[in-house]
Amino acid sequence: TSEDKVTIHFINQAGIKATTSVTEGETLLDVVVKKNLDISGFGACEGTLACSTCHCIFDKTFYENLEPMVDEEMDMLDLAYGLTKTSRLGCQVTVRKWMDGMTVEVPQETRDLRGANDS
Ligand code: FES
Repeated sequence: TSEDKVTIHFINQAGIKATTSVTEGETLLDVVVKKNLDISGFGACEGTLACSTCHCIFDKTFYENLEPMVDEEMDMLDLAYGLTKTSRLGCQVTVRKWMDGMTVEVPQETRDLRGANDS
């Protein structure tokens, strides 16, 4: 039923907003992939905490209620392009009912860190 759905808005690199209806329990990465949102390069490592392309910026009030970060996310986020005080990695954020109406913005650019140590 629609009661189980959570509305999340995404703002892509071009500043264009997409509104999605999401099932609780999916990650933001799942949503972007499933809804085929026009966010370039998002989720390059498919949620394995190896790329930082799923970098998302949250409103402060929502950010403060997110589940705490694990060390691996923190390390990866440190290297993300355009880090803000309310940044998280979208593959690590699970959609919950209280997020209804939340807006998630992606930064202007992302940095794919896979292979960063090669060469
Ligand atoms: Fe690569 Fe989240 S999808 S770190």
